[in-house]
Amino acid sequence: MNSNSIPVITIDGPSGSGKGTLARALADRLGWSLLDSGALYRIIGAQCLSRGINFDDETAVADLAQVLDIRFVGTAVWVEGLNMTEEIRTEDAGVNASRVAHWPAVRDAVLGLQRSFLQAPGLIADGRDMGTVVFPDAALKFFLDASAQERAERRYKQLKNKGLSVSLRGLLEQIQERDARDRERAVAPLKPARDALVVDSTSMSIELVLEEVMAEVSKRGLNLVQ
Ligand code: C5P
Repeated sequence: MNSNSIPVITIDGPSGSGKGTLARALADRLGWSLLDSGALYRIIGAQCLSRGINFDDETAVADLAQVLDIRFVGTAVWVEGLNMTEEIRTEDAGVNASRVAHWPAVRDAVLGLQRSFLQAPGLIADGRDMGTVVFPDAALKFFLDASAQERAERRYKQLKNKGLSVSLRGLLEQIQERDARDRERAVAPLKPARDALVVDSTSMSIELVLEEVMAEVSKRGLNLVQ
């Protein structure tokens, strides 16, 4: 199978919409590869911080993005031989990711790496611009949304369950700030591709979302790709 005929399913949407969980579940069900593109921007943000690179220095951030040795091993993320799996999952890491992700040169620097995840039998690509920029010819595109209040509440519950003390209001403000930066940026803003199916998960369980998405996948025969 040449890379042009390997099918891609894109799942874009704002933070906390459940797209990460959905993407992983879908990849498991279909036995396809998974690209968590948000992790790449989180890694770049975290590495800028530890190396003292200013988020506002587009060239320096892009130069760094180009040379980083990044490896995904199952659910673990290794960068320059260091396990960064936990470090990139914090709220601050998400905010820092959005501060480096708005630079065009940084986005260009990770384009090739993102496309290199395309492997038979198929790829599930999770992010903000998977259907609009990185894989515009994807076989099926979803845009998973949910209200900001609902997304903040979901995150609040997750962090509480981990024993962390957080403020719901603070989380909501952070989510709104990150949404605004992602939606209003000039390059690859967060928005549904014209041919994306929009799913509002505000009052849906992740199981229900997965069933709805699987129904679309089956309708197109993508569950039969070997
Ligand atoms: O999806 P996740 O919350 O890990 O993404 C972190 C940040 O990385 C987003 O808020 C966004 O600014 C950026 N991002 C992006 N394009 C993607 C994936 C993530 O700009 N495809």
